Amino acid sequence: MEKVKQIYEGKAKKVYSTEDPNLCIVSYKDDATAFNGLKKGTIAGKGVVNNRMTNMMMQLLEQRGVPTHFVEELSERETLVKRVSIVPLEVIVRNVSAGSFAKRYGVEEGIVFDEPTIEFSYKNDELGDPLLNTYHALALKLATKEEIELIKSYAFKVNEVLKEYFLALGVRLVDFKLEFGKTADGQIVLADEISPDTCRFWDAKTGEKLDKDRFRRDLGGVEDAYREIFKRVTQAH
Ligand code: TMP
Repeated sequence: MEKVKQIYEGKAKKVYSTEDPNLCIVSYKDDATAFNGLKKGTIAGKGVVNNRMTNMMMQLLEQRGVPTHFVEELSERETLVKRVSIVPLEVIVRNVSAGSFAKRYGVEEGIVFDEPTIEFSYKNDELGDPLLNTYHALALKLATKEEIELIKSYAFKVNEVLKEYFLALGVRLVDFKLEFGKTADGQIVLADEISPDTCRFWDAKTGEKLDKDRFRRDLGGVEDAYREIFKRVTQAH
């Protein structure tokens, strides 16, 4: 399958149409942003890590009953996916306090929750992805009640599968962000990516951060962190 025309460029990926109206090609860049694009940089090799890691996670999740947009990995940075319209909700699941949760509620990072939490943001860069609840999402007609229920159940299923998977690699899955899409025939599928850009990974022994927080917080060792988490994932494969 060949790229026909660029139809979208995001902060970390480009999307191309193909000859098949139901399929797209996603191409992962090394560009990194944080704080809604305010901080910009590049992370050498990130596109390769995020593409290949996302595809491994999507295949694992498919096996475990979560439908995804994944079709076929085409190259180091490019993947064939089902064409979807993205549901404009960022779905965030947390197992441990960190990031905006710790800040918003004035608690330290690293508190382990008895139960995972879920929250939604309205995917809208101009508004800075404001937090919303499911009533707000319904009022804004971002999705139907049934779709939101399905998205919630898929998100918790993703958490169960990935939490266990990463623990076996000596990694704590602290939190992550998912996006879902709707195919031409109305099916809700997991889309976007599952990578160190969109998850927090802490080494289970040392607590070392193996994700994009190294870039967001200027901790150094950004490329090494991406390489390390990728190494663990590929060795497990
Ligand atoms: P937060 O603590 O900043 O809300 O982030 C929660 C999780 O979501 C974290 O794993 C990073 C991920 N995330 C994204 O993938 N995109 C974003 O724009 C933001 C803010 C967070």
